[in-house]
Parts: sequence; C-alpha cells; structure tokens
Amino acid sequence: MDDIRAQSDRPASGPASRTAEVRYGLVGAGYFGMALGRGLGRLEGARITRVYDPEHAAAAVEEFGAVATASVDELCASPDVDAVIVASPNWAHREAAVLAAQAGKPVFSEKPIALSYADCSAMVDAAAEAGVLFMAGHVMNFMNGVRLAKRLIADGTLGKVLYCRAVRTGWEDPQPSISWKKQRALSGGHLYHHIHELDVVQFIMGPATTVTMVGGNVAHRGTQFGDEDDMLLITLEFGDDTFATLEYGSAFRWPEHHLLIQGTRGAVMIDMQQTGVTVRIGDRMEKHLLHRTAEEDAQRTATYAHSETSGAISYGNPTTVPPLWLTGIVEEEMAYFHGLLQGAEPEPEFAALTDGTAARAAIATADALSLSLAENRKVEVAEITG
Ligand SMILES: NC(=O)c1ccc[n+]([C@@H]2O[C@H](COP(=O)([O-])OP(=O)(O)OC[C@H]3O[C@@H](n4cnc5c(N)ncnc54)[C@H](O)[C@@H]3O)[C@@H](O)[C@H]2O)c1
Repeated sequence: MDDIRAQSDRPASGPASRTAEVRYGLVGAGYFGMALGRGLGRLEGARITRVYDPEHAAAAVEEFGAVATASVDELCASPDVDAVIVASPNWAHREAAVLAAQAGKPVFSEKPIALSYADCSAMVDAAAEAGVLFMAGHVMNFMNGVRLAKRLIADGTLGKVLYCRAVRTGWEDPQPSISWKKQRALSGGHLYHHIHELDVVQFIMGPATTVTMVGGNVAHRGTQFGDEDDMLLITLEFGDDTFATLEYGSAFRWPEHHLLIQGTRGAVMIDMQQTGVTVRIGDRMEKHLLHRTAEEDAQRTATYAHSETSGAISYGNPTTVPPLWLTGIVEEEMAYFHGLLQGAEPEPEFAALTDGTAARAAIATADALSLSLAENRKVEVAEITG
C-alpha cells in the first residue's frame, strides 16, 4: 500500500506566502477565541486590532495589543478591522456574523454555526448578500487523518462509502458550577456543541436526507448538571443504500471517540482516543498519524488517558493553551482562512466550509434530529430546509 502512504504524506496547507496585512476583529476572547487569535498571530501579515468581549477583553488587549471595543457593532464598523473572527458562546454567533457581513467584512464563525437552521441561513445569506467570505469553523476537517480519508475516498481507493459510524462519548461528573456549554439555550445542547462528527460524516457522505434520534437526559439531572441530553443515538440515511450512525453523550462510563468509514473496497478507522488512523484495504493494514506529528498524537492519547476532559468537554479560560494537537489544527484552519483573505485560491477539498454547504448541512440535520427526538419519529431533513 505504498500508494496510500505517498498520498498521506502530502504536506498540509501552510501559511500563504502573500504578505498583504489583514487586520482582524475578535468577538469573544475566552478559551477558544484566544487560541484562534494566537493561531492567527503566528501567521505572516495577520494582526488582531480589535476585540469585543463583555468580560474578558483584557487578555487580548495585553497579548495581541488589540483595542477593546464597547460592542460588536463598534468592532465591525472599525476601519482598522478587515475581517471578523466570531468565538463568542454559541447563542451569540448569529448577531456578530450578520453584523460583520453587513459591515462588508469577511467572517469566520466558530462551531456550532448557530442554534437553528433559520439562524444559520441568516448568517450564510448575510455574507452572500454582502459578497463577503463566510467560513464555518469546523476544525476537524483540518486533521491530517481526516484529510487522508477524504483523499482515499476521492481517488476511489475505498470504493463507494456505504456506512460511517461516529462515536463521541464519555462521563460527566458533578460540576461545581454550570458552564454555558452545558445549558441547552446557550450551547444548543450536546449535539450542537459537539457537531464536529455530524459535520465530517456529511462532508464524506453528502447531506443526510432522513434521520432519527432517540435518547434523552438519562443520568445527569439535578443542580450540579446542566439541562442538556446526555445520551443521543442517531441514524442518518443518505439514499442509494448508504447510512451512518452516531452516538453522543456524557452518560457513558466507557469513553469512546472515533470515526469509522466503511467502503466497498476498504475502510478507515480514525481513532481519536488511542490516537491514530488505520487504513484497511483487503487484508492489508496501514497506520498513519491523525495529527501533524507523533508528539501531537501522543499528547492527545495522554489527554484521554488522564481524563482531562469532562463528558468530552474541554473547559478553559483566556490563558489556557489548548493541547498541541488542537493548537496544530487551529493553525491549519487559521492559515487557510487568512490565505483566502490574502488572495489564495480556495482548495476544492474545503469548498463546503466556505460555500455555506457544511454550515447548513450540520445545523439542518441537527434540527431534524432534534425534531425526531421531540416527536419520536423519522424526519426528512427537507422538513427543516423547506
Ligand atoms: N472548534 C473547537 O474545537 C472549539 C473548541 C472550544 C470552543 N469552541 C467554540 O468557541 C466558542 C467559544 O468557546 P470557548 O471555549 O472560548 O468559551 P469561553 O466561555 O471560554 O469563552 C467565551 C467568551 O465569550 C465572551 N462572551 C460572552 N458573551 C459574549 C457576546 N455576546 N459577544 C462576545 N463575547 C461574549 C465571554 O465573556 C467569554 O470570554 C464557542 O462557540 C465554542 O463552541 C470550538
């Protein structure tokens, strides 16, 4: 399987060589906003000039030399902001993205793009109407192992993909205080907050047409927990005899985190816990890194082994530096967005991130799944998208 290795060793997308400066406004400068800001800060020609965060602007002011603004409106209107990075809590993405687009500024929005298909569409449409770039912050697409799997599908090595299985489960202990990430009205709940796998599965198989979800909050009721569901069991149908199942939740004492892709000629296991990627063609097996280096993969494995996540959520604050592997994919993601703003050609592999497809598919399917759970029935995604 030398041909597979040759493809997998292709260099990941690096910083654009162009030098035109792009000045960024950062909306939300908590744990992840600061990580995105640091990722940008390492790129040639990128500068964070403005920050809006109602509580935590100080770190971005100190670390990036940004000027704090009093509102999102003011940030978007600032003449020294060329593009806007939205990393506020999930419920607040829509307002910032729409204001940025209306001010004629390209937008990068963190996941989940929005808490409803209507909000997601409003964001994507606002950017399209203003003729500015909108990029969905679906960072899992920048993992080398995910990129390898997509190449093996695109060049026919895996054959027709019949089935994907994604599992992202763990156990949540009682919390001393309840983060917005655990409150359905603020985060969207477990499925929306951890939308990565739902996005990547649809990147691979196309938007789902018919979906079901069962589950609920089975083991985390009371004042020490939020109000989200902790067990979500999903089926997706794509037509043409192709299917996916996903399991999400924080009610699983045996934690799992993987994406298995089953094609007619081969299969790929992307293991995000015992970190690595295994490609199987016939009876031949080949191992690859999931991230950029063995060190990044090893650190990810260690994080899971030591249970540094709680119910698969990482909490942090503006000074928390994410693990190496996450820093790595954020760098790749920011380099791609920044490159586009500096005039780089879009890569076909990532087109769905910038043409609204990935954002819409992820949120439409999440909405359809929520409806399925609420009404205890199979739902056509077209019921959501019209
Ligand atoms: N892609 C990933 O792997 C990943 C990882 C972590 C977080 N995220 C996403 O990044 C976003 C931020 O998450 P986080 O972990 O940094 O959370 P966080 O709680 O650490 O930070 C959120 C920040 O937003 C600020 N804020 C509150 N209301 C705001 C508003 N209306 N406008 C602007 N800022 C506001 C808060 O003061 C806080 O500093 C979320 O959308 C989350 O889903 C993505």
